[in-house]
Amino acid sequence: MAERVQVTLDVQGMTCDGCAAHVEKAIRGVTDVEEANVPSWRAGRVTVTAGASVHHDALIEAVEGAGYRAQVRDRRAVREGQKFPSRGETYDLMVVGGGSAAFAAAIKAAELGAKVGLIEAGTIGGTCVNVGCVPSKTLIKAAELCYRSAYPRFEGLTACPPPSDWQRVIQQKDELVAALRQGKYVDVMKIYPSITLIQGRARLTGAKAISVNGVTHRPGKILVATGSLPWAPPIPGLAEAGFLDSTEALSLASLPQSLVVIGAGVIGLELGQLFARFGVRVMILEGGPHVAGAEEPEIGRALTQYLGEEKIRLCTGVRIERVERVGGEYAVHAVIDDKPEVCRAEQLLLATGRRPNTADLGLAEAGVEVGPHGEVKVDQHLQTANPDVYAAGDCIGEPMLVYVAAYGGGLAAENALTGTGRVYDLSALPHVIFTDPQVASVGLTERAAKAAGKAVKTAVLSLKDVPRALAARNTRGVFKLVADQETGKLLGAHILADDAGEVIQAATLAVRFGLRVQDLVETFHPYLTMAEGLKLAALTFDKDVAKLSCCAA
Ligand code: NAI
Repeated sequence: MAERVQVTLDVQGMTCDGCAAHVEKAIRGVTDVEEANVPSWRAGRVTVTAGASVHHDALIEAVEGAGYRAQVRDRRAVREGQKFPSRGETYDLMVVGGGSAAFAAAIKAAELGAKVGLIEAGTIGGTCVNVGCVPSKTLIKAAELCYRSAYPRFEGLTACPPPSDWQRVIQQKDELVAALRQGKYVDVMKIYPSITLIQGRARLTGAKAISVNGVTHRPGKILVATGSLPWAPPIPGLAEAGFLDSTEALSLASLPQSLVVIGAGVIGLELGQLFARFGVRVMILEGGPHVAGAEEPEIGRALTQYLGEEKIRLCTGVRIERVERVGGEYAVHAVIDDKPEVCRAEQLLLATGRRPNTADLGLAEAGVEVGPHGEVKVDQHLQTANPDVYAAGDCIGEPMLVYVAAYGGGLAAENALTGTGRVYDLSALPHVIFTDPQVASVGLTERAAKAAGKAVKTAVLSLKDVPRALAARNTRGVFKLVADQETGKLLGAHILADDAGEVIQAATLAVRFGLRVQDLVETFHPYLTMAEGLKLAALTFDKDVAKLSCCAA
């Protein structure tokens, strides 16, 4: 059968469904083209299936002839013939790991008709359900309920609530984790008879071989999905003194009186506030100049203020010199505001990042390259330097988010088994920090947009101007929008607010499909919802919203 290719072009200038149809028609007229598909004009992209002799110039000329601009983003061979290019002796695909990326991959492979071996050394389900998102978010919710019942009106609070029944909360958390692990992983696997679970520690033992429990398998393809582990910097005395990582902190048998947290990133902020709300005296030490360093500075500043109001001591620009245990306590020797200080506490939590879990996997032996933090190096199709080995999830490095892992796992399995060459695309990726108020963000920050050479305009709206916040008597927070100066396209949305994690989804659609600030203004937003803040923030580009009546545009 003749060789075929799939070419993806970025297309600029489409403004409606009619434009999409024009582009498709123009490309279908090019010699060798079999099919052209614009999934949506807002996506600004066309996927072309054609004979291998198709010329990029001919495709670009066709788009330009229709009145738009185009450039080639990607070209991949489409493999014909066998359903799977290389069937293995027993398994078409072996997946190393049993978390979200691994499960998504195994299910996708099973749907494609492949036989899958999924190898897990520990507990099935991976980080998110066992020791990450699920346990932390349920504990955070418990802390929030306890805190809000103690302070029904939380503005202007003055003291921390009393400690609550921690053991009961932990027990309920363990029950939830067990139920979700069973329902979402163990039981799901039973639906797919072509997936076999192998308990054991796997090691790659050659270009296309995996050894587990003393048996060597030669699958058609291999997917590395081994996740990540908490990482601690080399602080003198730390290893000797010992410390909690996030997994251990979420299962403490009893609450400490006091806690020092090192790191004010996602985990440090979420868990610092969680423990403070259970009555623990919390101090957070951050080496960088801001808390939540990746977020907009307006958000970091406001969050610092709110956490301070909850009696959390938050220090930035801290240099940690050493750690020791003295008289049953931790003593963290630090330089804070250029002055030496010893921070003492009953417990010490390290929240200084996570690193890919890729040691002792035999990756070098298999010709798989890794980066400086142990991250498996992959191309845009999640293929490693060894063409028969793919990787997905936390083991390929940041962003380490469960929904990214699941997306990557499915995509890698499809690419590995069918050669379709789907491109790993993380544009318009939202993320949420589950503090109270929540931080939620999508797209470019002002700083990142400027660094990318874009001319931008920004709008900042305090929650004091959002009716929902006023009605709920919780005006802690801010909306910040970043838009292209010339076109008005929304490039980023950054929210600190109650339910910011829900509100961000509308902004995610706007960023993903290239909507303009004016589109937000012209879209109905229900009155007295937090999502209305998006529209009000959009109005802020041109108007002083404090001077508007209810729902006015
Ligand atoms: P992080 O990278 O978010 O934050 C680590 C913080 O520690 C940074 O602010 C860094 O400046 C600081 N730090 C590093 N070394 C330090 C030192 N020696 N002294 C003082 N400060 C130091 O990492 P984090 O919070 O541990 O989270 C790990 C991963 O887990 C992230 O990739 C995150 O995306 C993911 N995660 C996501 C969640 C969510 O989506 N809500 C929740 C929890 C984790």
